Amino acid sequence: MKKLHIKTYGCQMNVYDSERMIDILRPLGYEVSDVADGADLVLLNTCHIREKAAEKVYSEIGRLKELRGEKEARGEGRMTIAVAGCVAQAEGIEIMHRAPAVDLVIGPQAYHQLPELIARTHRAKGERLAADFAPEAKFDALTSDRTVTGPTAFLTVQEGCDKFCTFCVVPYTRGAEWSRPVAAILDEAQALAAKGVRELTLLGQNVNAFNGVGSDGQPSTLAKLMYALADIPGIDRLRYTTSHPNDMGDDLIAAHRDLGAAMPYLHLPVQSGSDKILRAMNRKHGRQAYFDLVARIKAARPDLALSGDFIVGFPGETDKDFEDTLDLVRQVGYASAFTFKYSPRPGTPAASMPNQVPEAVMDERLQTLNALIIEQQQAFKATLVGKTLDILFEKPGRRDNQAIGRSPYLQSVYVEDARHLIGQIVPVRIVAVGNNSLQGALLETVSA
Ligand code: 5AD
Ligand code: SF4
Repeated sequence: MKKLHIKTYGCQMNVYDSERMIDILRPLGYEVSDVADGADLVLLNTCHIREKAAEKVYSEIGRLKELRGEKEARGEGRMTIAVAGCVAQAEGIEIMHRAPAVDLVIGPQAYHQLPELIARTHRAKGERLAADFAPEAKFDALTSDRTVTGPTAFLTVQEGCDKFCTFCVVPYTRGAEWSRPVAAILDEAQALAAKGVRELTLLGQNVNAFNGVGSDGQPSTLAKLMYALADIPGIDRLRYTTSHPNDMGDDLIAAHRDLGAAMPYLHLPVQSGSDKILRAMNRKHGRQAYFDLVARIKAARPDLALSGDFIVGFPGETDKDFEDTLDLVRQVGYASAFTFKYSPRPGTPAASMPNQVPEAVMDERLQTLNALIIEQQQAFKATLVGKTLDILFEKPGRRDNQAIGRSPYLQSVYVEDARHLIGQIVPVRIVAVGNNSLQGALLETVSA
């Protein structure tokens, strides 16, 4: 067996793609290794969203070069180094120049060609593949027989983004919006359910703009797709990420009210609470529209909790604009959120805007926002103590007979004497709050 090591950076779509790449390489005699040391093939599945994420790739290549030298010195043959993902797509040929140790650069739309390309790099080093392929071909080749590792799985339903927020590279790296046909998604979901998957997280850069063709030949909506998925025996829970506020259709909001499988937890990034900054970001909605939308969603599903993404220090952001963001966070109340310092990305409109915000100011704002978010996160968890939540048990915990499950709000829940329940959804009373988790206890009726 040859050893394959994949290192995944960035978003959940990369996690999904990495799993698919493992599946497609396994028939070629590769087995997964947790470490790069001694691997025959190392694949870096990269992220280009912020500068730091992109730079990590180059330092990792440096480390791999040393490991490759050691491997060869041991007489174990060559280590092939491949760069995949969004840095590969965005910087392609540049990677080859900057990091000659790299054998292969492959963009996200070309993963189905991986076996052939790996074979080619063994013959001639320095292959670079343009990635402008039809995504459909990729999915057809990649998703046939997925390896399942537990009762939860990601499922990509949509790729690309047409929104062109002025800070974001996604429309350039992942291309135009494209949705998979409903039938292909249902097939993949059915196969996953047959292997014991109970919860699906539907992925897309702009997932709620999903419009894949349905069985009637007409474009579907995400809500319609969710109803069809929930009909598959075994599929009990559905999530989706990431959504744009402007694509929250009425039927999707109604699905949160009517479809039991729709989890009451929604990632709905707003990025900023300032109307001026939202305009400069080209988000195409203002803060009041976001408040109104949140009110409509919560009216449909009162126990729904929100998570979000926020950028501090977008060009031109003043203290007042930042105050507006803090005010929005206080008014909405988040169960969790990701916060980022603005990072200028080459080729995006915001990178050449005047009034870039100094690093020190960004640092301070990030700290202030993080403190508020952590406070809200802990407060939200505290409201769950004493409540009974349905927990999907995923894996054994460290302690004897302990199991770790997932709450409807994506928190990890530690429960004693629950190992026999892995793969099942069981009511659990929440008894305590940890830093990154909850502690739960089985109800007597369940444990007996
Ligand atoms: N700088 C900082 N954060 C960014 N994001 C996207 N582009 C940038 C950037 N240039 C954040 C947004 C997005 C999340 C995935 O990453 O908040 O929602
Ligand atoms: Fe980027 Fe999301 Fe805006 Fe699309 S909607 S450009 S992925 S931040």
